[in-house]
Amino acid sequence: MLKQSNIIIDVHLNNQNPDAVKEEIRAGLLSTPRTLPTKYFYDERGSELFEQICESPEYYPTRTEHELLKTVADDVVTRSGADELVELGSGAATKTRVVLDAMARAKQLRFYVPFDVSEGIVRRVAHELVEEYEGLQVHGVVGDFLAHLEHIPQGGKRLVMFLGGTIGNLGPEAVPAFLSSVFDEMDQGDFLLLGVQLITDADRLEAAYNDSAGLSAAFNKNMLHALQPVLGAAFDPEAFDHVARFNRSEHRIEMHLRSVREQVIPIPELELTLHLEEGEEILTEISTKYTGPHVEALLTQAGFSPIAWYTDPAHLHGLALAQKPSG
Ligand code: SAH
Ligand code: AVI
Repeated sequence: MLKQSNIIIDVHLNNQNPDAVKEEIRAGLLSTPRTLPTKYFYDERGSELFEQICESPEYYPTRTEHELLKTVADDVVTRSGADELVELGSGAATKTRVVLDAMARAKQLRFYVPFDVSEGIVRRVAHELVEEYEGLQVHGVVGDFLAHLEHIPQGGKRLVMFLGGTIGNLGPEAVPAFLSSVFDEMDQGDFLLLGVQLITDADRLEAAYNDSAGLSAAFNKNMLHALQPVLGAAFDPEAFDHVARFNRSEHRIEMHLRSVREQVIPIPELELTLHLEEGEEILTEISTKYTGPHVEALLTQAGFSPIAWYTDPAHLHGLALAQKPSG
Protein backbone atom coordinates (compact mmCIF):
# COMPACT_ATOMS: atom_id res chain seq x y z
CA MET A 1 0.00 0.00 0.00
CA LEU A 2 1.37 3.43 -0.97
CA LYS A 3 0.06 6.39 0.94
CA GLN A 4 0.90 9.83 -0.31
CA SER A 5 -1.06 12.71 1.20
CA ASN A 6 -4.59 12.12 -0.05
CA ILE A 7 -3.81 9.16 -2.32
CA ILE A 8 -3.94 5.48 -1.36
CA ILE A 9 -3.30 2.78 -3.97
CA ASP A 10 -3.91 -0.90 -3.18
CA VAL A 11 -2.54 -3.49 -5.59
CA HIS A 12 -4.21 -6.90 -5.56
CA LEU A 13 -2.93 -8.40 -8.79
CA ASN A 14 0.31 -9.59 -7.21
CA ASN A 15 -1.77 -11.99 -5.14
CA GLN A 16 -2.58 -13.87 -8.32
CA ASN A 17 -1.07 -17.31 -8.55
CA PRO A 18 1.19 -17.38 -11.68
CA ASP A 19 0.17 -20.99 -12.31
CA ALA A 20 -3.50 -19.97 -12.33
CA VAL A 21 -2.74 -17.23 -14.90
CA LYS A 22 -0.91 -19.73 -17.11
CA GLU A 23 -3.72 -22.25 -16.75
CA GLU A 24 -6.30 -19.63 -17.75
CA ILE A 25 -4.32 -18.78 -20.90
CA ARG A 26 -3.59 -22.42 -21.72
CA ALA A 27 -7.26 -23.41 -21.33
CA GLY A 28 -8.31 -20.53 -23.60
CA LEU A 29 -5.87 -21.46 -26.35
CA LEU A 30 -7.05 -25.06 -26.25
CA SER A 31 -10.78 -24.27 -26.20
CA THR A 32 -13.15 -24.09 -29.18
CA PRO A 33 -13.08 -21.37 -30.37
CA ARG A 34 -9.57 -20.55 -29.20
CA THR A 35 -9.59 -17.50 -26.92
CA LEU A 36 -7.29 -15.15 -25.03
CA PRO A 37 -8.60 -13.23 -21.98
CA THR A 38 -9.63 -9.67 -22.85
CA LYS A 39 -8.17 -8.13 -19.68
CA TYR A 40 -4.64 -8.73 -21.05
CA PHE A 41 -5.14 -5.98 -23.64
CA TYR A 42 -4.50 -3.37 -21.00
CA ASP A 43 -0.78 -3.18 -20.34
CA GLU A 44 0.75 0.31 -20.50
CA ARG A 45 0.80 0.34 -24.32
CA GLY A 46 -2.67 -1.22 -24.58
CA SER A 47 -4.17 1.44 -22.31
CA GLU A 48 -2.52 4.14 -24.44
CA LEU A 49 -3.85 2.57 -27.64
CA PHE A 50 -7.34 2.39 -26.16
CA GLU A 51 -7.18 6.11 -25.37
CA GLN A 52 -6.20 6.77 -29.00
CA ILE A 53 -9.04 4.55 -30.28
CA CYS A 54 -11.45 6.68 -28.21
CA GLU A 55 -10.34 9.73 -30.18
CA SER A 56 -10.58 8.11 -33.61
CA PRO A 57 -13.41 9.32 -35.88
CA GLU A 58 -14.83 5.81 -36.26
CA TYR A 59 -15.05 4.93 -32.54
CA TYR A 60 -18.26 6.79 -31.64
CA PRO A 61 -19.09 5.19 -28.21
CA THR A 62 -16.71 7.31 -26.12
CA ARG A 63 -17.71 10.71 -27.45
CA THR A 64 -21.39 9.73 -27.44
CA GLU A 65 -21.24 8.66 -23.80
CA HIS A 66 -19.22 11.76 -22.93
CA GLU A 67 -21.86 14.07 -24.43
CA LEU A 68 -24.67 12.11 -22.80
CA LEU A 69 -22.99 12.30 -19.39
CA LYS A 70 -22.74 16.08 -19.73
CA THR A 71 -26.53 16.26 -20.05
CA VAL A 72 -27.37 13.84 -17.22
CA ALA A 73 -24.58 14.14 -14.63
CA ASP A 74 -26.35 16.73 -12.47
CA ASP A 75 -29.51 14.60 -12.41
CA VAL A 76 -27.53 11.47 -11.49
CA VAL A 77 -25.65 13.27 -8.72
CA THR A 78 -28.82 14.83 -7.29
CA ARG A 79 -30.77 11.58 -7.36
CA SER A 80 -27.96 9.54 -5.85
CA GLY A 81 -26.90 12.05 -3.21
CA ALA A 82 -23.49 10.34 -3.42
CA ASP A 83 -20.33 11.83 -1.95
CA GLU A 84 -18.19 8.95 -3.14
CA LEU A 85 -17.63 7.79 -6.71
CA VAL A 86 -16.42 4.21 -7.28
CA GLU A 87 -15.50 3.50 -10.90
CA LEU A 88 -14.92 0.01 -12.27
CA GLY A 89 -12.63 -0.22 -15.31
CA SER A 90 -11.87 3.46 -14.79
CA GLY A 91 -9.07 3.67 -17.38
CA ALA A 92 -8.01 7.25 -18.12
CA ALA A 93 -11.11 8.57 -16.28
CA THR A 94 -11.70 11.22 -18.93
CA LYS A 95 -15.50 11.07 -18.79
CA THR A 96 -15.29 10.69 -15.02
CA ARG A 97 -14.44 14.39 -14.78
CA VAL A 98 -17.97 15.23 -15.94
CA VAL A 99 -19.41 13.40 -12.93
CA LEU A 100 -16.77 14.70 -10.52
CA ASP A 101 -17.56 18.24 -11.71
CA ALA A 102 -21.27 17.65 -11.04
CA MET A 103 -20.48 16.29 -7.57
CA ALA A 104 -18.28 19.32 -6.87
CA ARG A 105 -21.07 21.67 -8.03
CA ALA A 106 -23.45 19.91 -5.65
CA LYS A 107 -20.82 20.19 -2.86
CA GLN A 108 -20.92 16.39 -2.59
CA LEU A 109 -17.42 15.49 -3.78
CA ARG A 110 -15.30 13.75 -1.17
CA PHE A 111 -13.90 10.44 -2.37
CA TYR A 112 -13.02 8.72 -5.67
CA VAL A 113 -12.16 5.04 -6.05
CA PRO A 114 -10.72 4.13 -9.49
CA PHE A 115 -10.65 0.35 -9.90
CA ASP A 116 -8.69 -1.01 -12.85
CA VAL A 117 -6.47 -3.92 -13.84
CA SER A 118 -3.90 -1.51 -15.28
CA GLU A 119 -1.67 -0.23 -12.46
CA GLY A 120 0.03 2.58 -14.36
CA ILE A 121 -3.25 4.20 -15.32
CA VAL A 122 -4.69 4.01 -11.79
CA ARG A 123 -1.58 5.76 -10.44
CA ARG A 124 -1.63 8.40 -13.19
CA VAL A 125 -5.32 9.18 -12.70
CA ALA A 126 -4.97 9.37 -8.91
CA HIS A 127 -2.21 11.97 -9.20
CA GLU A 128 -4.02 13.98 -11.87
CA LEU A 129 -7.30 14.10 -9.95
CA VAL A 130 -5.95 15.18 -6.58
CA GLU A 131 -4.30 18.07 -8.44
CA GLU A 132 -7.51 18.93 -10.28
CA TYR A 133 -10.02 18.63 -7.40
CA GLU A 134 -9.05 20.32 -4.19
CA GLY A 135 -9.59 18.19 -1.11
CA LEU A 136 -10.43 15.04 -3.09
CA GLN A 137 -9.31 11.74 -1.53
CA VAL A 138 -8.43 9.03 -4.05
CA HIS A 139 -8.27 5.40 -3.03
CA GLY A 140 -7.21 3.46 -6.13
CA VAL A 141 -7.63 -0.30 -6.39
CA VAL A 142 -5.53 -2.24 -8.90
CA GLY A 143 -7.35 -5.50 -9.41
CA ASP A 144 -9.60 -7.67 -11.53
CA PHE A 145 -13.22 -6.63 -11.23
CA LEU A 146 -14.21 -10.26 -11.76
CA ALA A 147 -12.18 -11.35 -8.74
CA HIS A 148 -11.32 -8.51 -6.35
CA LEU A 149 -14.48 -6.45 -5.81
CA GLU A 150 -14.36 -7.12 -2.07
CA HIS A 151 -11.35 -4.80 -1.93
CA ILE A 152 -13.48 -1.75 -2.73
CA PRO A 153 -13.05 0.33 0.42
CA GLN A 154 -16.05 0.88 2.67
CA GLY A 155 -17.13 4.47 2.45
CA GLY A 156 -19.92 6.99 2.42
CA LYS A 157 -22.93 7.25 0.16
CA ARG A 158 -21.67 5.65 -3.02
CA LEU A 159 -22.32 5.93 -6.72
CA VAL A 160 -20.70 2.99 -8.54
CA MET A 161 -20.02 3.67 -12.24
CA PHE A 162 -19.18 1.19 -14.97
CA LEU A 163 -18.91 3.14 -18.19
CA GLY A 164 -17.95 2.80 -21.81
CA GLY A 165 -19.89 -0.40 -22.45
CA THR A 166 -17.15 -2.44 -20.78
CA ILE A 167 -19.86 -4.75 -19.41
CA GLY A 168 -20.26 -5.85 -23.04
CA ASN A 169 -16.73 -7.27 -22.93
CA LEU A 170 -17.84 -9.88 -20.40
CA GLY A 171 -19.25 -13.17 -21.64
CA PRO A 172 -23.07 -13.40 -21.44
CA GLU A 173 -22.69 -16.14 -18.84
CA ALA A 174 -20.48 -13.89 -16.68
CA VAL A 175 -22.70 -10.78 -16.69
CA PRO A 176 -25.39 -11.91 -14.17
CA ALA A 177 -22.76 -13.15 -11.70
CA PHE A 178 -20.76 -9.94 -12.14
CA LEU A 179 -23.80 -7.70 -11.51
CA SER A 180 -24.73 -9.78 -8.47
CA SER A 181 -21.25 -9.38 -7.04
CA VAL A 182 -21.36 -5.61 -7.63
CA PHE A 183 -24.77 -5.59 -5.88
CA ASP A 184 -23.35 -7.57 -2.94
CA GLU A 185 -20.50 -5.09 -2.48
CA MET A 186 -22.84 -2.10 -2.40
CA ASP A 187 -24.69 -0.81 0.65
CA GLN A 188 -28.46 -0.42 0.67
CA GLY A 189 -29.38 2.89 -0.94
CA ASP A 190 -26.16 3.08 -3.05
CA PHE A 191 -26.54 3.79 -6.78
CA LEU A 192 -25.11 2.19 -9.92
CA LEU A 193 -24.61 4.02 -13.22
CA LEU A 194 -24.07 1.51 -16.02
CA GLY A 195 -23.02 2.58 -19.52
CA VAL A 196 -23.96 0.28 -22.40
CA GLN A 197 -23.45 0.41 -26.14
CA LEU A 198 -26.77 -0.01 -27.97
CA ILE A 199 -27.51 -2.17 -31.00
CA THR A 200 -27.12 -0.16 -34.18
CA ASP A 201 -26.34 -0.88 -37.83
CA ALA A 202 -23.56 -3.33 -38.63
CA ASP A 203 -21.60 -0.92 -40.84
CA ARG A 204 -21.26 1.67 -38.11
CA LEU A 205 -20.35 -1.01 -35.57
CA GLU A 206 -17.77 -2.73 -37.74
CA ALA A 207 -16.15 0.59 -38.69
CA ALA A 208 -15.68 1.42 -35.00
CA TYR A 209 -13.51 -1.69 -34.61
CA ASN A 210 -11.69 -1.35 -37.94
CA ASP A 211 -10.54 2.27 -37.85
CA SER A 212 -8.60 3.48 -40.85
CA ALA A 213 -5.57 4.54 -38.76
CA GLY A 214 -5.08 0.91 -37.70
CA LEU A 215 -5.39 1.65 -33.96
CA SER A 216 -7.85 -1.20 -33.32
CA ALA A 217 -5.52 -3.58 -35.17
CA ALA A 218 -2.54 -2.41 -33.11
CA PHE A 219 -4.59 -2.74 -29.90
CA ASN A 220 -5.63 -6.29 -30.81
CA LYS A 221 -2.10 -7.40 -31.72
CA ASN A 222 -0.66 -5.70 -28.63
CA MET A 223 -2.23 -8.48 -26.55
CA LEU A 224 0.52 -10.77 -27.89
CA HIS A 225 3.20 -8.30 -26.75
CA ALA A 226 1.53 -7.95 -23.36
CA LEU A 227 1.47 -11.73 -22.98
CA GLN A 228 4.99 -12.29 -24.28
CA PRO A 229 6.35 -13.35 -20.84
CA VAL A 230 3.87 -16.25 -20.94
CA LEU A 231 3.53 -16.92 -24.68
CA GLY A 232 7.19 -16.41 -25.60
CA ALA A 233 8.79 -14.72 -28.60
CA ALA A 234 7.69 -17.46 -31.04
CA PHE A 235 4.14 -16.04 -30.83
CA ASP A 236 4.81 -13.31 -33.40
CA PRO A 237 2.17 -10.52 -33.63
CA GLU A 238 3.13 -9.99 -37.28
CA ALA A 239 1.95 -13.50 -38.10
CA PHE A 240 -1.64 -12.46 -37.29
CA ASP A 241 -4.24 -10.23 -38.92
CA HIS A 242 -6.75 -8.16 -36.96
CA VAL A 243 -10.36 -9.20 -37.65
CA ALA A 244 -13.50 -7.61 -36.13
CA ARG A 245 -16.99 -8.66 -37.27
CA PHE A 246 -20.53 -8.05 -36.05
CA ASN A 247 -22.28 -11.25 -35.02
CA ARG A 248 -25.94 -10.35 -35.58
CA SER A 249 -27.51 -13.25 -33.72
CA GLU A 250 -25.43 -12.57 -30.58
CA HIS A 251 -25.60 -8.77 -31.20
CA ARG A 252 -21.91 -8.36 -30.53
CA ILE A 253 -18.65 -7.43 -32.19
CA GLU A 254 -16.19 -10.30 -32.08
CA MET A 255 -12.53 -9.44 -32.39
CA HIS A 256 -10.01 -12.07 -33.45
CA LEU A 257 -6.36 -12.56 -34.29
CA ARG A 258 -6.26 -14.57 -37.53
CA SER A 259 -3.19 -16.61 -38.35
CA VAL A 260 -1.79 -15.48 -41.71
CA ARG A 261 -0.20 -18.91 -42.30
CA GLU A 262 0.03 -22.36 -40.87
CA GLN A 263 2.10 -22.07 -37.68
CA VAL A 264 3.60 -24.42 -35.13
CA ILE A 265 4.26 -22.31 -32.04
CA PRO A 266 6.19 -23.76 -29.10
CA ILE A 267 5.09 -22.20 -25.79
CA PRO A 268 7.47 -23.65 -23.17
CA GLU A 269 5.89 -21.67 -20.28
CA LEU A 270 2.59 -23.46 -20.94
CA GLU A 271 4.19 -26.80 -21.81
CA LEU A 272 2.27 -26.58 -25.06
CA THR A 273 2.92 -26.53 -28.80
CA LEU A 274 0.15 -24.72 -30.61
CA HIS A 275 -0.66 -25.78 -34.15
CA LEU A 276 -2.61 -23.12 -36.06
CA GLU A 277 -3.97 -23.54 -39.58
CA GLU A 278 -3.77 -20.67 -42.06
CA GLY A 279 -6.84 -18.50 -41.40
CA GLU A 280 -7.49 -19.97 -37.96
CA GLU A 281 -8.77 -17.38 -35.48
CA ILE A 282 -8.19 -16.68 -31.79
CA LEU A 283 -11.08 -14.77 -30.18
CA THR A 284 -9.63 -11.88 -28.13
CA GLU A 285 -12.75 -9.84 -27.33
CA ILE A 286 -16.49 -9.75 -27.54
CA SER A 287 -18.27 -6.41 -27.29
CA THR A 288 -21.98 -6.96 -26.76
CA LYS A 289 -24.52 -4.34 -27.76
CA TYR A 290 -27.72 -4.03 -25.74
CA THR A 291 -31.28 -2.71 -25.75
CA GLY A 292 -32.84 -0.77 -22.88
CA PRO A 293 -35.19 -3.63 -21.88
CA HIS A 294 -32.29 -6.12 -21.87
CA VAL A 295 -30.29 -3.89 -19.51
CA GLU A 296 -33.30 -3.36 -17.25
CA ALA A 297 -33.88 -7.12 -17.06
CA LEU A 298 -30.24 -7.79 -16.15
CA LEU A 299 -30.27 -5.12 -13.43
CA THR A 300 -33.57 -6.30 -11.98
CA GLN A 301 -32.42 -9.91 -11.99
CA ALA A 302 -29.37 -8.86 -9.92
CA GLY A 303 -31.65 -7.19 -7.35
CA PHE A 304 -31.35 -3.54 -8.42
CA SER A 305 -34.30 -1.13 -8.71
CA PRO A 306 -34.09 0.70 -12.08
CA ILE A 307 -34.30 4.46 -11.46
CA ALA A 308 -33.63 6.16 -14.83
CA TRP A 309 -32.64 5.32 -18.40
CA TYR A 310 -30.84 7.94 -20.48
CA THR A 311 -29.86 7.76 -24.17
CA ASP A 312 -28.39 10.12 -26.76
CA PRO A 313 -30.70 11.41 -29.54
CA ALA A 314 -29.41 8.79 -32.02
CA HIS A 315 -29.86 5.94 -29.50
CA LEU A 316 -26.28 4.75 -29.82
CA HIS A 317 -25.50 4.62 -26.15
CA GLY A 318 -27.43 4.11 -22.92
CA LEU A 319 -26.83 4.96 -19.29
CA ALA A 320 -28.88 3.05 -16.74
CA LEU A 321 -29.20 4.44 -13.23
CA ALA A 322 -30.22 1.86 -10.64
CA GLN A 323 -30.30 1.60 -6.87
CA LYS A 324 -29.72 -1.14 -4.34
CA PRO A 325 -33.03 -1.00 -2.50
CA SER A 326 -33.24 -0.54 1.24
CA GLY A 327 -34.71 -3.34 3.33
N1 SAH B 1 -14.04 3.53 -18.40
C1 SAH B 1 -13.16 3.96 -19.46
C2 SAH B 1 -12.20 2.85 -19.94
C3 SAH B 1 -12.85 1.72 -20.67
S1 SAH B 1 -11.61 0.60 -21.31
C4 SAH B 1 -14.00 4.43 -20.61
O1 SAH B 1 -15.22 4.30 -20.56
O2 SAH B 1 -13.44 4.95 -21.58
C5 SAH B 1 -11.82 -0.75 -20.22
C6 SAH B 1 -11.07 -0.53 -18.92
O3 SAH B 1 -11.34 -1.64 -18.07
C7 SAH B 1 -9.55 -0.49 -19.12
O4 SAH B 1 -9.00 0.59 -18.42
C8 SAH B 1 -9.06 -1.83 -18.59
O5 SAH B 1 -7.77 -1.77 -18.02
C9 SAH B 1 -10.13 -2.16 -17.56
N2 SAH B 1 -10.34 -3.60 -17.40
C10 SAH B 1 -10.54 -4.53 -18.36
N3 SAH B 1 -10.75 -5.74 -17.81
C11 SAH B 1 -10.67 -5.56 -16.47
C12 SAH B 1 -10.81 -6.43 -15.36
N4 SAH B 1 -11.07 -7.73 -15.53
N5 SAH B 1 -10.69 -5.90 -14.12
C13 SAH B 1 -10.43 -4.57 -13.93
N6 SAH B 1 -10.29 -3.70 -14.94
C14 SAH B 1 -10.41 -4.19 -16.20
C1 AVI C 1 -13.58 -1.10 -23.33
N1 AVI C 1 -14.56 -1.59 -24.32
C2 AVI C 1 -15.90 -1.12 -24.01
C3 AVI C 1 -14.17 -1.37 -25.71
C4 AVI C 1 -15.28 -1.89 -26.64
O1 AVI C 1 -15.77 -1.12 -27.46
O2 AVI C 1 -15.69 -3.04 -26.49
C5 AVI C 1 -12.86 -2.04 -26.04
C6 AVI C 1 -12.45 -1.93 -27.47
N2 AVI C 1 -11.99 -2.89 -28.20
C7 AVI C 1 -11.71 -2.47 -29.41
N3 AVI C 1 -12.01 -1.22 -29.48
C8 AVI C 1 -12.47 -0.84 -28.27
